[in-house]
Amino acid sequence: MNQHLARSTESIRFDGESASNEARCRLRATEPICMRTYTPSLALLEKSAGSYHWTPEGRKLADFTSGVLVANLGHNPTRWWHRVLDYLGLSTIDATLEFQQMVPLTSYNAATEIELLANERLLANMRREPGGGRMEQVLWAASGSEAIQKAIWASMARQPGSQMILAPRHGFHGKKGLANAITGTECDAERDPRVRFFGFPIEECCDVQRRRQPIDLDKYEQELNDLFYRYGSRFCCLVTEPYLGGGGSYHPQPEYLQLLQRFCNRHDIMFILDEIQSNFGRTGPMYAYTHYGVEPDIVCLGKGMGNGVPVSAAVGRSDVLGTLTYGAGSDTWSANPLSSAAVVATLDEFETSDVIGTARRLADVLERGLCRLKETGLIRYVRGEGCVWGIECNPVGDHSAAEVANHCVRTCYVGDDQGRAVHLLGPLAKKVIRVSPPLVMPLDEAQMYLDVMYERFTALRSELG
Ligand SMILES: Cc1ncc(COP(=O)(O)O)c(C=O)c1O
Repeated sequence: MNQHLARSTESIRFDGESASNEARCRLRATEPICMRTYTPSLALLEKSAGSYHWTPEGRKLADFTSGVLVANLGHNPTRWWHRVLDYLGLSTIDATLEFQQMVPLTSYNAATEIELLANERLLANMRREPGGGRMEQVLWAASGSEAIQKAIWASMARQPGSQMILAPRHGFHGKKGLANAITGTECDAERDPRVRFFGFPIEECCDVQRRRQPIDLDKYEQELNDLFYRYGSRFCCLVTEPYLGGGGSYHPQPEYLQLLQRFCNRHDIMFILDEIQSNFGRTGPMYAYTHYGVEPDIVCLGKGMGNGVPVSAAVGRSDVLGTLTYGAGSDTWSANPLSSAAVVATLDEFETSDVIGTARRLADVLERGLCRLKETGLIRYVRGEGCVWGIECNPVGDHSAAEVANHCVRTCYVGDDQGRAVHLLGPLAKKVIRVSPPLVMPLDEAQMYLDVMYERFTALRSELG
């Protein structure tokens, strides 16, 4: 189905969605399909508030994606928007003036106070968390891939003779440049001669129950030692996500990450943690390094950090980030005041209200509701932590697990006869459905939509035969 749609000239259609169908056709005419990762629903979103989206037909969709783990505080929170506008100096627009006197929307070769505030607030916030002891400077960027690229550049500049990079198989770090080179998702081939991949304990954390069992680290340690024996000090850094996100939501036992950090410390290799997806409360604490018990040299941040405004950063040791000279980490959008204002406003929300506690309660509801989906026969494994989960589909009859996953996304989008529908992402690693609602989704509403998923999956199970 995926391949078929990708090649065909038809756009996605749903009965009763004439405005959305028409818009999907116009989209197909004016944008190449590569603009989006395939999602069987391709929802047209007219507006969004809190944990919901609305289509042009007025259909309400419960958002179980937070965009792509972006709107951790929910979509368009009023207080957050007020803060963003205040930080930009735009509490009210004076319509009688031709131009508004406010912060410039550029910071290229100039700086603004809001950027300084974002630096200081972010560093203080990260250092407060256990594991944040090395957070000394912020190198801003505009997308996750760019933050990864800049973190690697800095590690390379620190040791000019050491240009090789270590990364786990099946990881996902972005689609551009070095972020793509170290991405091992669905492809173990070494696409860049500087990169070496090593093992990730997929089997050991294939399900939330299995993850609670102890892990034997010997073979992972052995592989790292072998790689070091072979290439030695040619490695400048090791980059890993705390859990494999795009690779299928595999959340390892913390001891695995601790092993990676010990290896890095022993050999003076920079330990770079890609928290682009996990940051700002997604896994439970503010940053995943806290409950994985590691202290990275550099942490890459993105997605939820701006709650929807594009912004990312490589944050870490000043002696590492400081090795890049003038211009080596600069570009048009990095540290843009709009991004800085969004980061500070997002930090305000986390620091002045109990987002983390709310998310902890939601995590329990999600775990119970998702594990129950196994009873429908469509779900084989449930994996996750905090408010980021993956449910891996079973093959059913003649239908592969990937087909089942696509059917699940569609049936949730169509919803039930009371008009209750759930917005999901296209499957990860073909057969894993991501569940990652805003951290502030009310518990009773989360429960209700988990029940909708249960009913829709049960009906789908009978349809698939
Ligand atoms: C863990 C991780 N790293 C990096 C990226 C790349 O971010 P971007 O798409 O903003 O380049 C992503 C995006 O999904 C991600 O999940």
